[in-house]
Amino acid sequence: MNYREEKEGNDLIDKKETPLGYRRLEGRKALVTGAARGIGKAIVTRLAQEGADIAVNYRSSEEAADNVAKYAENLGANTWTYQADIGNYQEVFEMKNAVEKYFGKIDLLVNNAGINMDKLFMKMDQESWNKVIQVNLNGVFNCTHTFLDHLMVSKQGRIINITSIVGQMGNIGQVNYAASKAGVIGMTKALAKELSRNNITVNAIAPGFIETDMVAGIPDKVKEKILLQIPLRRFGAPEEIAKAAVFLASEDAAYITGHVLNVNGGMYI
Ligand code: NAI
Repeated sequence: MNYREEKEGNDLIDKKETPLGYRRLEGRKALVTGAARGIGKAIVTRLAQEGADIAVNYRSSEEAADNVAKYAENLGANTWTYQADIGNYQEVFEMKNAVEKYFGKIDLLVNNAGINMDKLFMKMDQESWNKVIQVNLNGVFNCTHTFLDHLMVSKQGRIINITSIVGQMGNIGQVNYAASKAGVIGMTKALAKELSRNNITVNAIAPGFIETDMVAGIPDKVKEKILLQIPLRRFGAPEEIAKAAVFLASEDAAYITGHVLNVNGGMYI
């Protein structure tokens, strides 16, 4: 059987044995939110290596999202990009209709998009509280609620929520972010129970400090202090979160639901 992709520029990619991939997600259709960079981008790449087709959601950076999609296509995936603010239910609803029309029904939803607006609580205004909850918590509601019918007909639906170590252990200056991410953990567990009858698994990944733009903004002195709290003495790579996502999406994790998978170098145990 010839698995070689004949598309121009893809002739060196073997569809059965792409680098690092075992095609565990062949035939699956995924939507990854906030996928133009960082962890979302790594998840799209890894899903593509494993054989999935991917709808790439982004908020503002069309060019970056297109590049992520092109890269995934070079790995043999069918992709489709769509701009939508996941904090806006109407926009998510329109994205869902467009996904259905141009991409097909999804059976894997990766709720990855997230923001932080850090401030000490006594200086935190309502706007920074509301915005972070709107994207990080309500955004997970909006996407999950809207795409639920896709996952229900799939019979092997998977939801993966990217939460955070901060939702588990708290962090100074991140009361809004911690509340949103702890909310996602509660939501993951309750939803896992509700959706088990539909054979949909719902899990969360709780990254520690991962080297993306989100962490690049932390001052060096603070980073040094954080490193001392990480037993493995390094920040994580986006690909390490992507590998966990692929595992939870795969058949290997079929009996795992309601779980929060820590990928944090031992920082929170
Ligand atoms: P990032 O800031 O590099 O990427 C986040 C992406 O989400 C961006 O492309 C952004 O445009 C998109 N996004 C933001 N708001 C959106 C909205 N309303 N609608 C659609 N897209 C939106 O961040 P990173 O590090 O890749 O984070 C990904 C996820 O992982 C987030 O949920 C974050 O909270 C979580 N996380 C990250 C950690 C880290 O150390 N980098 C640690 C723990 C959790």
